[in-house]
Amino acid sequence: MKQRLLERVEPTGQQHLLGFWDELDGDAKSSLAAQIESVDFALIERLLSEQQSATDWSVLAAKAESPPAIRLGQVVGPPSAGDANAAGEQVLRSGRVGAVLVAGGQGTRLGFPHPKGMFPFGPVSQRTLFQMFVDQLLALGCQYDVKIPLYLMTSPATHDETVDYFEANDRLGLAANQLHIFCQGTMPAVDRETGKVLLADQGQLALSPDGHGGMLAALSDGAHLEAMNAAGVDTLFYFQVDNPLVNVCDPLLLGYHTLAQSQMSTQVVAKRYAEERVGNVVAIDGQVRIIEYSDLPPEAAAQCNANGTLRLWAGNIAVHVFSVPFLCDSAKTANALPFHRAYKRVACINQHAEVVEPDGENGVKFERFIFDLLPLAKHALVMEVDPVDAFAPIKNGPGSAKDTALLASQATVDLHARWLRAAGVTVADGLPVEIHPSYALSAAQVAQKVRPGLHLSEPTYFFGDGEA
Ligand code: UD1
Repeated sequence: MKQRLLERVEPTGQQHLLGFWDELDGDAKSSLAAQIESVDFALIERLLSEQQSATDWSVLAAKAESPPAIRLGQVVGPPSAGDANAAGEQVLRSGRVGAVLVAGGQGTRLGFPHPKGMFPFGPVSQRTLFQMFVDQLLALGCQYDVKIPLYLMTSPATHDETVDYFEANDRLGLAANQLHIFCQGTMPAVDRETGKVLLADQGQLALSPDGHGGMLAALSDGAHLEAMNAAGVDTLFYFQVDNPLVNVCDPLLLGYHTLAQSQMSTQVVAKRYAEERVGNVVAIDGQVRIIEYSDLPPEAAAQCNANGTLRLWAGNIAVHVFSVPFLCDSAKTANALPFHRAYKRVACINQHAEVVEPDGENGVKFERFIFDLLPLAKHALVMEVDPVDAFAPIKNGPGSAKDTALLASQATVDLHARWLRAAGVTVADGLPVEIHPSYALSAAQVAQKVRPGLHLSEPTYFFGDGEA
């Protein structure tokens, strides 16, 4: 077996990966062999050689313009918002919509030692993030008399615990054939100086998830795209595990997407300040694309229009809608999605099998981003939403100034209190209130249901037909 593996690694100079082979027991040998066989070493070599010709972001940023978009507060149309909403409801009712939730990230910044979706979030209920999303899907299912399938992407780091969690909790109410948990692929990290693949220990490569763009290959390899086609699901709503305010399967976005015959649509917010840590949705040579916040030069981010608003105003909240045929076509093109390089600290061993705890960014990780499909899409559509209605990401642990669970919880309470007040309910300032999707999914649904003149003075959870 060793000889076969050597033949695999030698052509690209990675034979150090077998340096401890003779010291490994049988199981460790099999596991290392499987890892080595799963790596495309020619691809790694190509990615390393492309290092010299890496994207020049300042050139791209100079060409970037604000994207054509359906903006808040501007009269747009046709179609009108009413027509778009009706079209979105029709697509939902006809069973053509599926949802994909990417939850393969390791959530290192949050410091929660489990998959992020298991984070207990509900401001009153303590529902987990997974529940926050699934409850919306179930409520939409009742409203439109459909079972919306959920495709949930994990990574090797989050897979088993996520599967166990859903099994132990009756799939949170989803039917067995409605939940599809699939695991994304991995890529090895390489030494920044030498390009050698790093070893996590004698018998293991330093592997990490291949980015949320890995969703495309994972959906395709797992035959999920085929299954969607067979089930008549031609529209896929995409969202991230870290945003409890996401309007899952938002009919308005689905409607605009459908009426424009868009292949990929995306929801954005107006950036509140130049350095906000969100990707920048821009147009370059007529194509919509996203420049990540870490890649956009600060001078480009800070440029303003004559009225003082940001020139590159559109912030990515990672809510997209895909046409499934577009995903199928893209999956057939091996390199539809480029790899991005990230310099990271990667714990590894050296040639003496000593553990190295790097003090700097010693490794290069390669990740694909799903939003790089935007420039390939015909009729990419951009729609603005107000962040108070749709975006409160949880990225950082307690004590951080931004993007914490506490801030997201406050944003959720504020939104639900606004819905209640608009329906004539008195809600004391700062009082925790939470509305479960089985009670209402929108301000309009609260207004139809809530008892007129209700006065709230204690934390209240609206669920099913009433409040508790
Ligand atoms: C991401 C976006 C950024 C956007 C912001 C909104 C990227 C590169 N950047 O930033 O443009 O403004 O969200 O909140 O996406 N994930 C996987 N597998 C992976 C890596 C990530 O499933 O291999 C999932 C994570 O679980 C998470 C999401 O992708 O749900 C975002 O990942 P993260 O690395 O946290 O992105 P950000 O840098 O926060």
